[in-house]
Amino acid sequence: MAGEDCKISAEPDPGRRHLTFTSVTSITTSTPMAANAPIGVFDSGVGGLSVLRHIRACLPQEALLYFSDAQFAPYGGRPERQIEERALAIGALLAAYPVKALVVACNTATAAAIAALRRAYPALIVVGVEPGLKPAAASSVTRVVGVMATEATLASTRFAHLRETLSAATGVTFLPMACPGLALRIEQDQMHLPESLALLRRCVVPLLEQGADTLVLGCTHYPFVQEQIAAIAREQVPRNVTIIDTGAAVARQLASQLDRHGLLRRQSAPSIDGLTSGSAADLERAFKRLLGLTVRVVQTGI
Ligand code: DGL
Repeated sequence: MAGEDCKISAEPDPGRRHLTFTSVTSITTSTPMAANAPIGVFDSGVGGLSVLRHIRACLPQEALLYFSDAQFAPYGGRPERQIEERALAIGALLAAYPVKALVVACNTATAAAIAALRRAYPALIVVGVEPGLKPAAASSVTRVVGVMATEATLASTRFAHLRETLSAATGVTFLPMACPGLALRIEQDQMHLPESLALLRRCVVPLLEQGADTLVLGCTHYPFVQEQIAAIAREQVPRNVTIIDTGAAVARQLASQLDRHGLLRRQSAPSIDGLTSGSAADLERAFKRLLGLTVRVVQTGI
């Protein structure tokens, strides 16, 4: 059962598949127990909530388990190896529940660790988030696209490969823009401060000045300042500026993979639980402030 706004492509059911989880158990995918397991979603902090809201809309019957690695946020300035270590530790924690799928709701962790996560959990559905260069190239009229993301995402081999492939295929110029400090300000609910808006302007204006008519939100924290970005674009240039967020596409991709493996929850029993390496009260407040949801959060030892 999928939400109205979430079309699942009809692909053949490959039949039963065996999922093995690290510590506790193993489950067979087409059993009701497996389908009833939660979907694990994680990010360095609150950014992944911008993806979780699309997952909720797309798969309203599912149980969701959100992990915020607030104690180690932001990931954006950290070395790739450290981000991979954190992602594997979080993967192990969530796989042990067990979850039936893992959504890496973080561009930075996807770039650094999705390959390692897939190697560690070969039978688990693992869905990542990447800057939406492809839809941006399709929408751009000026053929210039700005890509706002963390330093680590923009420095990754994965991003370099995506950028080169799409530039070669479409002739579009992609302008990378690292926005150090922006994710942390969103994380700490500081976007009402004038210096936060000044920082956002310093990220957005140079992209518009170089001709970008499409801006990719390549960090899952950034959809929470999408309106401020749109306002800067409106006052800066006369042309229409399209802003690309891949949250809905990620939710559709997750739904389609669950469907393909017979893992969509049949009975509606929606729930959201929160876990964090940081402060439980902070994440509870963020659920309320950003999504209007009351969620119980537990602090974990990892
Ligand atoms: N939300 C994350 C992303 O999509 C990471 C932000 C950070 O921790 O620096 O890249």
